[in-house]
Amino acid sequence: MRVLSGIQPSGKLHLGNYFSMMRRMIDYQAKSDLFAFIASYHAITTVEEGPVLRAGILDAAIDFLALGIDPTKSTFWVQSDVPEVAELAWILSTSITVSQLELAHSFKDKVAQGIVASAGLFTYPVLMAADILLFGAQRVPVGKDQKQHLEITRDIAQRFNHKYGEIFVIPEPDILKDTELVPGVDGRKMSKSYKNAIYFFADEKELKKSVMSIVTDSKGVQDSKDPDSSVLYQIYSLFLDQKGREELADKFRTPGTGYGDLKKALLAQILETFAPFRERRATLLADLDSVEDMLQQGARKARDAAIPFLERARDATGLGYRKK
Ligand code: TRP
Repeated sequence: MRVLSGIQPSGKLHLGNYFSMMRRMIDYQAKSDLFAFIASYHAITTVEEGPVLRAGILDAAIDFLALGIDPTKSTFWVQSDVPEVAELAWILSTSITVSQLELAHSFKDKVAQGIVASAGLFTYPVLMAADILLFGAQRVPVGKDQKQHLEITRDIAQRFNHKYGEIFVIPEPDILKDTELVPGVDGRKMSKSYKNAIYFFADEKELKKSVMSIVTDSKGVQDSKDPDSSVLYQIYSLFLDQKGREELADKFRTPGTGYGDLKKALLAQILETFAPFRERRATLLADLDSVEDMLQQGARKARDAAIPFLERARDATGLGYRKK
């Protein structure tokens, strides 16, 4: 099965990114034909400084490779290294109406925030459809905020196929469930914009500060604590299997362990879990040439997979008019 997802190079990764997106991708990598890319074209709808985007793309590539995206098992590339996707986006833009794009929540939200929308921001979902349809992706794992974009993708594909024949695969969304959401230090969904995120590649001092700021009630060392209503318990559980979770719940309930100790244990757990990734990241950072090589190879693999779909679309629409 072909599984595809794109990730915007939006800065440092936090535990929410890791336990929702990253881990799912790594799971898919083991059991399917994973296509993963850094959504650089999408990023220029918001990032308007060249050096910032450039650094962001490389950072994201290094993070993903460090966390286990393996270019020998998956196809991993930077979106703008396969510019065919921009051609397909143009073609697909004729299979969706302006009024349908005007209904997109993410677009409406940005406008409501007072952002003056560029045409690129408006047609963002069309480019996303091109990302997916260009590779014949069957399944697309995304967060809930992308659900409507996937519906738009399916609509575009259906409308195109209706006009021109069965050219594109209709992709199935794989939307993260609410129960899989990772809480931030204040208990709301972990998010960069809420400033409640725990950045696992941060240095130890910063990590400690975030972990220590996780909200708790005022129960003291000698009180029994309720794991079910505890953000600290929820975050800690992400690192544990069923047995570990039960043991941790016991520790909460049994007097004698304070929140401070539990937080220290969580900090140690985070450091331990990410130690190998941190090491790999340092190695990659010291060898940017080989990171760039991997991305170039990834782009070649992606392009080989893309060209047949693009050719079919060009042929079906009449753009590929020359005799073969
Ligand atoms: N819009 C997605 C996000 O912000 C990123 C993205 C771009 C994407 N193209 C995609 C995700 C194609 C899945 C498939 O999260």
